Amino acid sequence: MRLMLIVGVVLLGACTKTAGLKPIGKPVNVIAPLGLPAVPAPEENPLTEETVALGKKLYFDPRLSADGTVSCASCHDPEKGFGDSRKTAVGVRQQTGNRNAPTVLNAAYSPRQFWDGRAASLEEQAAGPIANPIEMNLPHAECVRRVQGDAEYRTLFAKAFGEGAITMLHIQRAIAAYERTVVTGNSPFDQYFYGGNKAALSAPAARGMAIFLDRERGNCAACHTAGTKEAVFSDGKFHNVGAGLSPEGELVDLGRFAETKVESDKGAFKTPSLRNVAQTGPYMHDGSLKTLRAVVDFYAGGGSSNPYLDKEVRPLALTGRDREDLVAFLESLTGELARVQ
Ligand code: HEC
Ligand code: HEC
Repeated sequence: MRLMLIVGVVLLGACTKTAGLKPIGKPVNVIAPLGLPAVPAPEENPLTEETVALGKKLYFDPRLSADGTVSCASCHDPEKGFGDSRKTAVGVRQQTGNRNAPTVLNAAYSPRQFWDGRAASLEEQAAGPIANPIEMNLPHAECVRRVQGDAEYRTLFAKAFGEGAITMLHIQRAIAAYERTVVTGNSPFDQYFYGGNKAALSAPAARGMAIFLDRERGNCAACHTAGTKEAVFSDGKFHNVGAGLSPEGELVDLGRFAETKVESDKGAFKTPSLRNVAQTGPYMHDGSLKTLRAVVDFYAGGGSSNPYLDKEVRPLALTGRDREDLVAFLESLTGELARVQ
């Protein structure tokens, strides 16, 4: 009884806090392409035609950066697999960070955002780069002021959320809604594995797939998961594979540990989805591996030894042909964007 009361009060609190923030427009669905599960969206931010369109406009708008030169798309460019093709990202005034910009493709399926998982949702994530001094460097109050000052945005926000305030949370929700439409599937792999089209994969790619899935050979699917009906290619968890160690073999970036302070999380990063991976190099949290072949060779060597190396990473007996086959398989994961209706 007392517990129910507490739950009730908490729920009421949550409701009043989000009043006026829920989209009011026309509900839409992302039609998940072959090989993908349904796209999840939080109850308080269901996809609508209006929020998706508004979020797309915000995503491509450089006015969301201090000097008007950088948008989300500068570092997550649709022409570059929703990444930036750079080792590490470059923000306003050409400042560089120390992490590689991950693709936004299929981020919708990720239970936590960023390499270290420090954001719990796409909504929460979107606030980060806008204010980050080395990315867009625009204080949130100034971001809201700019958007409010634009007549076209005022109309679009009113259609998406109703008349009234434009806040950071509205902006974050719209951007997250657009990102949930940026999902890719129906690749040659999906057509082969889930669609039963045996002609969809080349012989090398099919052999590479077998190595990828086999626990005794590649053991890749231990973390880059693929199920019987769909494949996200990520367990959504954090692992140390030994990427990005210093020449002395020391961890340069503590990754997930900075968030959790759990010793075993040292040097652990989120398992990236491998969809469209052929378009999203260079690879790893620090962009240290330039090609897919370099990644495969890295794993064949058992990652890089360090005290926190995941137990699923170990030296693999892979011939030159096996490695080429694995690369052919990874290249078969490039698919097409979802339709929204
Ligand atoms: C200056 C380049 C830059 C800009 C601009 C930028 N990002 Fe990023 N983005 C990054 C980097 C680098 C990371 C990884 C940082 C980390 O993990 O610590 C990242 C991470 C992300 C992720 C997490 C993906 C995952 O799989 O964990 C999402 C989603 C994302 N950005 C969306 C956005 C959105 C939306 C905007 C605009 C509001 C934006 N980014 C602006 C560079 C950028
Ligand atoms: C223990 C879990 C685990 C296993 C096993 C594993 N991976 Fe990974 N993979 C990860 C993590 C975590 C990262 C990111 C590591 C980092 O940046 O430090 C990653 C990164 C990658 C990347 C780079 C993607 C990008 O966007 O930067 C590729 C490609 C890849 N793995 C392919 C493979 C292949 C092929 C195998 C099998 C030979 C494999 N992985 C085995 C967890 C794993």
